[in-house]
Amino acid sequence: MDNFFVVDHPLIKHKLSIMRNKDTGPKEFRELLNEITLLLTYEAARKLPVMDVDVETPIQTTKGFMVDDKKVAIVPILRAGLGMLDGVLSLVPNASVGFLGVFRDPDTLKPVEYYVKFPTFTDEHQIFILDPMLATGHSMNHAIDVVKKHGGKNITVMSLISAPEGIKVVHEKHPEIEIYTASLDEKLNSHSYIIPGLGDAGDRLFRTK
Ligand code: URA
Repeated sequence: MDNFFVVDHPLIKHKLSIMRNKDTGPKEFRELLNEITLLLTYEAARKLPVMDVDVETPIQTTKGFMVDDKKVAIVPILRAGLGMLDGVLSLVPNASVGFLGVFRDPDTLKPVEYYVKFPTFTDEHQIFILDPMLATGHSMNHAIDVVKKHGGKNITVMSLISAPEGIKVVHEKHPEIEIYTASLDEKLNSHSYIIPGLGDAGDRLFRTK
């Protein structure tokens, strides 16, 4: 699949397997999501532009490279995307953060927006949209539409688990967008949950069930 990358490192597989376990509690679940996000970010940020700088070592001046992380923006989709925010911020601490609240209407399964608070996006910004579960792809498409409407151009999606249906929906509308994920799961069930998945990521992060 074009523009779709499964980062299937042994450490990620190990950590994700613990997250999938229904007996894993919220503390460990949050810690593992944070750790996996860090590892995903390492790959997803591979194309960030670097600036040439001169660095004075104790011996001589040499050529160095710096990422301008002020040109990075992170958009976690509330609420489960919050579980991935710190993982990205720990590697790009000066990034701007925009918040987008979307929930899935239980009857129509369509995204309903309830909160938007974005920084100003420029052509130069690299924007990472975060949602641990890329399921139907409708919330993600909505998020991409809103980010584009606010001027965002260079967008990368990061998810923990993706369903083939969700990737198809996103890439039908936004084929240029790169999706980084820790696992491509089998499919969606009749309630649009990812199987095998890990259940409801928001509920497991915040113990709401
Ligand atoms: N959202 C979740 O939290 N889990 C799924 O399986 C699908 C959507």
